[in-house]
Amino acid sequence: MSFSPPPPPPSLATPSSAPPVDLPVRQIPGSYGWPLVGSISDRLDYFWFQKPESFFRKRIEKHKSTVFRTNVPPSFPFFLNVNPNVIAVVDVKSFSHLFDMDLVEKKDILLGDFAPSLAYTGNMRVGVYQDPSEPQHGMVKNFTMDILKRSSGIWASELVSNLDKMCDNLESTLSNSSSASYLFPLQQFLFTFLTKTLSGADPSVDAKIADGGYLMFDRWLALQLLPTVPIGILQPLEEIFLHSYAYPFFLVSGDYNNLYNFIKQHGKEVVNRGKLEFGLTEEEAIHNLLFVLGFNAFGGFSVFLPSLIDAIATDTTGLQRKLAKEARENGGSTLTLNSVKDMPLINSVVYEVLRLNPPVPLQYARARKDFTLSSHDSAFRVTKGELLCGYQKLVMRDPLVFQEPESFKPDRFANGGAQLLDYLFWSNGPQSGSATSSNKQCAGKDIVPLTAALIVAHLFRRYDSIEGNSSSITALQRAK
Ligand code: HEM
Repeated sequence: MSFSPPPPPPSLATPSSAPPVDLPVRQIPGSYGWPLVGSISDRLDYFWFQKPESFFRKRIEKHKSTVFRTNVPPSFPFFLNVNPNVIAVVDVKSFSHLFDMDLVEKKDILLGDFAPSLAYTGNMRVGVYQDPSEPQHGMVKNFTMDILKRSSGIWASELVSNLDKMCDNLESTLSNSSSASYLFPLQQFLFTFLTKTLSGADPSVDAKIADGGYLMFDRWLALQLLPTVPIGILQPLEEIFLHSYAYPFFLVSGDYNNLYNFIKQHGKEVVNRGKLEFGLTEEEAIHNLLFVLGFNAFGGFSVFLPSLIDAIATDTTGLQRKLAKEARENGGSTLTLNSVKDMPLINSVVYEVLRLNPPVPLQYARARKDFTLSSHDSAFRVTKGELLCGYQKLVMRDPLVFQEPESFKPDRFANGGAQLLDYLFWSNGPQSGSATSSNKQCAGKDIVPLTAALIVAHLFRRYDSIEGNSSSITALQRAK
């Protein structure tokens, strides 16, 4: 496929009711079907008969459009107050409208029209559910960005020492077994490292938290997200038991309270800063910190890193040799968040994995007013209040922007490919953009890929080769 010039940058979305020049105005194709029946049929397609990726692909083909109407879960029977109707936006250009805060509102739509009970977040709406027009959004976002800035001093050293512990354990498992599952060890490592860096609290002071903190977050996350994510267990059991109702908070209240008490007692310095410098109450500071730590950071990395390890550990093209060469020749004797910037191939691999497997595949936004939304080939009228739903996994395979969009090309973003960062949207905004208090881009937009690059660089200073997949390591060859 030949490379066509990229479309206009996201900021060029058309914020008026007039159609953009040259694009024909089309009625948005697709329908919501009969009440209840339409949404249950789409839900079954989404979770069971088609699965998310082909759910969106089939509708693009059917409607010959990357903008169309459909329903997304959760829905009937016990989600009667959730409206499943959305306008799907599945190309780079239409998806970019989700970042234009003049056009769209991001209030309570992290997971679409469905939101888990407020009990999961201390009976308050934490910042991630707030729109930039709400004053508290800026207070929480600035608090988060300050936490990240201040933790950058210990970020790399904590990362490396905890990663080494995990590697030692995996090596010891592999010494008497042909395979070592790394998912829980990875989460244990992430939990310790992120809790220390973000909250300033050291899990090792409390054995219950040190040993089981990551599982507490897992259970708390799972119950909030279950109605919206495919799990892959035997159908129709998954539909009946996991996707049909929202789970009550009391099932994980013990876990959440343990984590809450731990942060309250041992994360005082960060919590006090939230109060004194960012105007939050103690409760707001703790619940927001727990959300950022558990949902955003721990949850995000728990999904992202296995796909990164998988892409590298299953490669058979000699990529690992090149990664090891770069990791050892560049970046100085001690790796830092800054020194890994000097590793173009490693950074490109990280971006490429984020492109192909964005850890948070769905983003939502509600039209703040009537406006005209454009895809590459058409314009569509959107009415105030309608919910837009972007499916990143296809957006970032947009063939008009990415050459051979389905292929894993390790050096796609290196060697002059940096302009493509304008279209790398994993963080709910372009990788070339900036997270601010007036937008909804991920506060971890810069530190997430740099952390991943640091992990890859450290692993390839320690090992010559790594074999495995998205859940297990089967061989680790120490660097000679
Ligand atoms: C692999 C890891 C991560 C992924 C995939 C990820 C992804 C995202 C995405 C997609 C959003 C936008 C959600 C939406 O509004 O639709 C978001 C928001 C956010 N993320 Fe991340 N994130 C990650 C790590 C982090 C980290 C490490 C932090 C901070 C410590 C963080 C803090 C936030 C915050 C505060 C928001 C809300 C921004 C706002 O309200 O304006 N994230 N993240």
